[in-house]
Amino acid sequence: MGQLRGGCETVAVTITWNPTTWRDRPAGQQPDWPDSGAVETTLKTIASYPPLVFAGEARDLLSELGRVARGEAFLLQAGDCAESFDAFNANSIRERLKVILQMAVVLTYSAGVPVVKVGRIAGQFAKPRSADTETVDGVTLPSFRGHIVNDIAFDPAARVPDPRRLEQAYHQSAATLNLVRAFTRGGFADLGRVHQWNQEFVAASPEGARYNALAGEIERAVRFMTACGLDTASVPSLHEVTVYTSHEALILAYEEALTRQDSLTGDHYDCSAHMLWIGERTRELDGAHVEFFRGIRNPVGCKIGPTATPDEVLALCESLNPDRIPGRLTLIVRMGKDRIAEGLPPLLEAVRDAGHPVVWSCDPMHGNTFTSASGRKTRHLEDIVAEIAGFFAAHHAAGTWPGGLHVELTSDDVTECMGGGSAVSDDDLPLRYETMCDPRLNGRQSLDLAFRVAELLQSSH
Ligand code: PEP
Ligand code: CO
Repeated sequence: MGQLRGGCETVAVTITWNPTTWRDRPAGQQPDWPDSGAVETTLKTIASYPPLVFAGEARDLLSELGRVARGEAFLLQAGDCAESFDAFNANSIRERLKVILQMAVVLTYSAGVPVVKVGRIAGQFAKPRSADTETVDGVTLPSFRGHIVNDIAFDPAARVPDPRRLEQAYHQSAATLNLVRAFTRGGFADLGRVHQWNQEFVAASPEGARYNALAGEIERAVRFMTACGLDTASVPSLHEVTVYTSHEALILAYEEALTRQDSLTGDHYDCSAHMLWIGERTRELDGAHVEFFRGIRNPVGCKIGPTATPDEVLALCESLNPDRIPGRLTLIVRMGKDRIAEGLPPLLEAVRDAGHPVVWSCDPMHGNTFTSASGRKTRHLEDIVAEIAGFFAAHHAAGTWPGGLHVELTSDDVTECMGGGSAVSDDDLPLRYETMCDPRLNGRQSLDLAFRVAELLQSSH
C-alpha cells in the first residue's frame, strides 16, 4: 500500500505489482549490456520458451518449507558458488547430487528429522561483485559477473556482457534440471544404493568409513522391513527423492522473462527455479530485487549479513511475506563466526515476537572468507563449524528452530577450503583450486560437515 496526501486527508492506494514493476526501482548489480536492443530480443525469445519448473512444484516446496518453519523438518540448500558453462556434463551433475544426497541421508538418519533438499543448481550462474571493475597490472576491465553475463578470462572481449549467454543459461538449466529429475526419480536415489553415493576418494577416508557404516545400517533396516513382510518395493519414499532447484535471482530481466502467470491460481511464479533468493548486496527495501520478489509466489530467501538491524529484517518480512505464510520466506544468515553470537539474537527475538513464520537458515560460508597467507581466497572448516554452532546456540536461547544450512560445495577433490579430515593447508590450496568464484567444500569436507551438523541437530530437538 502507498499513501497519497491531499489536504488533510490521507488516501491509501494499492500499488499494483507486475513482473516489470522492478524496472522503476534502482537495481544493483545489473550488467552494463552494450546493445540493449539485442538484450530485449533475447529476453523476448526466453519469454516465449517453456517454463523450467511448474507452479505446482514451487507450491510443494512451499509446503515442505512450511514444515521447516514449524520445526518439523530441516532445510539443506547446497551446491556450487557459481555454475560454469565449461564444466557442464552428466558426470559433474551426478557427482554434485551424490554429495547432497549423502549429506541429507546423514542428517536424516543421525538426527531423525526429514530433510528438505534444495540445490544451488540448474540456474546458479550470476554473481554479485563488490566492484564493477577489476584491475590487473594497470589494465582495468569489467568484473566477471558469472557465465550468464560474461567470461572469466581477463581479456577485454571475454569481459563484455553478451546477451547470448542468457539463452545459454536457460538451455543449460533445462538440461541440468532434466538430469536432476531423472537421477532422483530413476532408481539412482534408491535407499538400497546409499553405498554407491560414496565417491572413491571419499570412501577411503575416515568420514567415508563412517558414512559406509551408516549406509550399512540403512540397508539392513530396509532388509529388516522387507523380511517383516512390508512391501518396501511399493514405498516411493524409499526409492526416490525430490531435489528442488534454487539460485540467486540477480539478473532481474532474465527472471522477469521466466515469470509466468499460473493458470490454476492466476498468481505469478518465477519459473526459472523452485526457490529464489536475494543476495546480501541487493536486499535494499526500496530496491528492484525486493520489489520483484514481493510479487512472485515461489518460496523465497533473503541473505542477512552482519549489518542487518531488527527493523530492517522485520520490514523485509512485512514486504516479502505480508500474509505470513509459513515457508514463504527463508532468512539466510551469513554473519561470520565472530559476529553471530552478538548479531543473531536480536533478530531472532524481533522476528519471533512479531510472529513471522520464517525459516532460519545458516550460511556459514560468506561471512568467513579470508585471504590466506599465500594469497588465496579461502575458508576454514573450523570457522564454518564455529558459525553453525553459534547459530544453533542462538536458536536454543531464543526458543526458535535452527531450520537449515546453506553451503557451497562440490563433489570434486578440490583444495579450496582449509581444514577437515584431510587437513587441507595453505600450501595445499594451489593443488586443485578450481572455483570460478568462492572457495567450496570438497566431498570429504562436506560429509565431515554433515556429521557435525547432525550432532548439533540431535542435541537441539
Ligand atoms: C552467494 O550465495 O554466492 C553470495 C554471493 O552470497 P551473499 O549474497 O550472502 O554474499
Ligand atoms: Co558464494
